[in-house]
Amino acid sequence: MPHFSYEDGVLYAEHTPLTDIAEQFGTPTYVYSKAALTENYSAYADACRKYGRGESGALICYSVKSNSNLAVLNLLQQCGSGFDIVSGGELLRVLAAGGSASKVIFSGVGKTADEMRLALSHNILCFNVESIPELHRLNEIAGQMGKPAPVSLRINPNVDAKTHPYISTGLKENKFGIAYEEALATYRIAAVLPHIRVVGIDCHIGSQLLDDAPLLEALDKLIELIDALEQEGIAIHHLDIGGGIGIPYEGGDSVPVGDYLARLFAKIDEWRRLKHGASPIQVMFEPGRSITGNAGVLLTEIQYLKHGAEKNFAIVDAAMNDLIRPAMYDAWHQVLPVIQHKIPAETYDVVGPVCESSDWLARERALAIEQGDLLAIMSTGAYGMTMASNYNTRGRAAEVMIDGVNVHLIRKRESPSELFASESIPG
Ligand code: LLP
Repeated sequence: MPHFSYEDGVLYAEHTPLTDIAEQFGTPTYVYSKAALTENYSAYADACRKYGRGESGALICYSVKSNSNLAVLNLLQQCGSGFDIVSGGELLRVLAAGGSASKVIFSGVGKTADEMRLALSHNILCFNVESIPELHRLNEIAGQMGKPAPVSLRINPNVDAKTHPYISTGLKENKFGIAYEEALATYRIAAVLPHIRVVGIDCHIGSQLLDDAPLLEALDKLIELIDALEQEGIAIHHLDIGGGIGIPYEGGDSVPVGDYLARLFAKIDEWRRLKHGASPIQVMFEPGRSITGNAGVLLTEIQYLKHGAEKNFAIVDAAMNDLIRPAMYDAWHQVLPVIQHKIPAETYDVVGPVCESSDWLARERALAIEQGDLLAIMSTGAYGMTMASNYNTRGRAAEVMIDGVNVHLIRKRESPSELFASESIPG
């Protein structure tokens, strides 16, 4: 069900008109729908249940980097989610939001010694280790702390995710994971390190995949490896397939989560059935975008309409510092006027006030708009606020969560004085 839709020419988030949000909290503001977040999480959880995976059979570890607001994390932990983190900061956020470290997996190529200590002290579920030097550092720290570190090796299966090169991670040339050819040798090292406890295997081949074929290809390669490892007596208790499926920013379809999971579980069940008597393997997912992406919009106000010789510009109060995806990946986000006017549409580039030509949010859009109107930049719940910066000394946007007619401010707008409060002048 769409959670952002028009009623009598006004765009609503659930049962709340976006005009009310702008009036109450100003703009730019990120607006999230609680129902959309819950529904998107449930698509994974329901499919896991449907294919016979209870708590111990599957674990959904929401990828915190896509949207790390405490209210979002708290909601997902209430739904039963675990968390995929990539920094000590994200771990502290998860804990502050009421999440349990026992459902946290720690990914990332550059974990520092301090981050490892923090994660070990909280007894996280697993470290997704991405290199041999990282394995040695973790072994050493776990030894010092007298706590064996549960480890999964992130294997780079050399599968083309067919997504934007900046968010493709599973090819040989990418910095991520352990090369497929070196996987067995690396597991042999891990298996004999005294303070490492091998528990799993994982991969993540990229983000915004609209087709699940590359994910299933990666799964085949992990299955082959697990078989080889089991022959050597190295037991693998969980298999983590990485991030979720992409979302259809430009309309059209992406693979429904339930269909993807049906194919994935069918493959796993068939494989385990053929290995008579093999113990069940826990399956893990690290979805981010497919849970938060279409659950959020960025609400912004048009400051000026500028009609040029070549182009028309709608200059809005949101900018690349609030939403960097268009500048960084050429990403396309739908732009909707919050109030539908009966005036002729004109073609505009929607741009922000930042002093860069890359500060654009949408290009060549037919919009029936006037100065002072509100616009909603759609599907910005993932990698919107988490990638925001303070460039041009712009405070980051407010965030609100809508629950029917109830509106919760879940992060207040940053004030300029907060931005330089921790700076000092020498002397
Ligand atoms: N697990 C790992 C190890 C990851 O690196 C990522 C995303 C995920 C899970 C979650 O993937 P998802 O389900 O969201 O596709 N800033 C970019 C996306 C970067 C994704 C990085 N890794 C964007 O705005 O499109």
